[in-house]
Amino acid sequence: MIELLFKEFRKRFRNDAPQLFFCPGRVNLIGEHIDYNGGQVMPCAISKGTYLAIAKNTDKKIRFSSFDFPDKAELQIQTSYSKTGKQWFNYPLGVLDYLIRNGNELSGLDMLFAGDLPVGAGLSSSASIEVLTIYALDELFGYNRSKTEMALAAKKVENDFIGVSCGIMDQFAVAMGQKNKAILLNCDTLKYEYIPFETKGYSLVIINTNKQRALSESKYNERFAECGAVLKSLKKELQIEKLCDIDPGAFEKYKHLTGSEVLVKRARHVITENERVAKASSALKSGNISMFGSLMFDSHQSLKEWYEVSGIELDTIVEFARSYNECIGARMTGAGFGGCAIALVQKEYVNDFEEKLISFYKSRIGYEASVFISGAEDGVRSLKV
Ligand code: GLA
Repeated sequence: MIELLFKEFRKRFRNDAPQLFFCPGRVNLIGEHIDYNGGQVMPCAISKGTYLAIAKNTDKKIRFSSFDFPDKAELQIQTSYSKTGKQWFNYPLGVLDYLIRNGNELSGLDMLFAGDLPVGAGLSSSASIEVLTIYALDELFGYNRSKTEMALAAKKVENDFIGVSCGIMDQFAVAMGQKNKAILLNCDTLKYEYIPFETKGYSLVIINTNKQRALSESKYNERFAECGAVLKSLKKELQIEKLCDIDPGAFEKYKHLTGSEVLVKRARHVITENERVAKASSALKSGNISMFGSLMFDSHQSLKEWYEVSGIELDTIVEFARSYNECIGARMTGAGFGGCAIALVQKEYVNDFEEKLISFYKSRIGYEASVFISGAEDGVRSLKV
């Protein structure tokens, strides 16, 4: 990939000294849809991600180009930018807009992106390209932001420029990932801890439903609003700041305040999921991987029944995983409504699991799922050439 990127960069820009950067995607091991409720999540960065070859130019133009999409852009340096349709380069453009508005110096730039992360599959391809752009520009211009600040800036781009009301989990995970570690992140305080993700004889299998996540943005924003409504009603009698401030027992006592069965279900997921993350972190720390796996299954069930963000494709994968003896845990990961599931499968059985899962899925859904394996990996970084 690196050589190809270099060659293509020279060909496209006639500029021959690019620097190279990489930012991974992520999976969330457990703690779903609770980052925007002030809860704890446990993601890790993965092996696939986005690459960038970048160099300053002297003609004061910003040029974006990609291996994976035909559209390119050539822009003047301006005092702000706005989003253009659904173009892929809105992500780096949003980052430039953020930097300029925050008084960061820029010059002309040639940028070539490439990636091996499936786009729109719930593995955070957007956080990956945003954090990648901020990191590369920070290295080129010496802005001196910490990786946490980069993650926060990328979230702001996603919220304000792109228009998705996501939490901080994805940007934080792809910026801060560490090899063989899960990140236990408190999304309220941004305090974090690395937990050894030693899966002793098990592989982390990532399964893409290959379903386009058509409704995901509007449904995501709907869940976000529902959680806001629950919080508002609970605040009438409770002194809480976020939904995750309340524990499952207390919620059952005060749930009548929400005045809606649907809202009770949504909140029940959020509150019990937050508790599952705490249990999952103790399980990992004490090396109880089968307990960790069973919490993954519970998490999926809660997302399916109470939060209603799964779907036939993800449920089919988890149903198969439950029936497969050497798989100790599986769940949807990310926003849901399609995208990917993850599973922990005994290493020697991974090929058999994959083969049988693909044929089971195809017989139910009509097309194939795709499967790959990843460990927990490092976050955004420069690549030595
Ligand atoms: C998406 C969002 C994250 C998080 C997950 C669900 O990936 O970008 O902030 O809310 O969904 O856990």
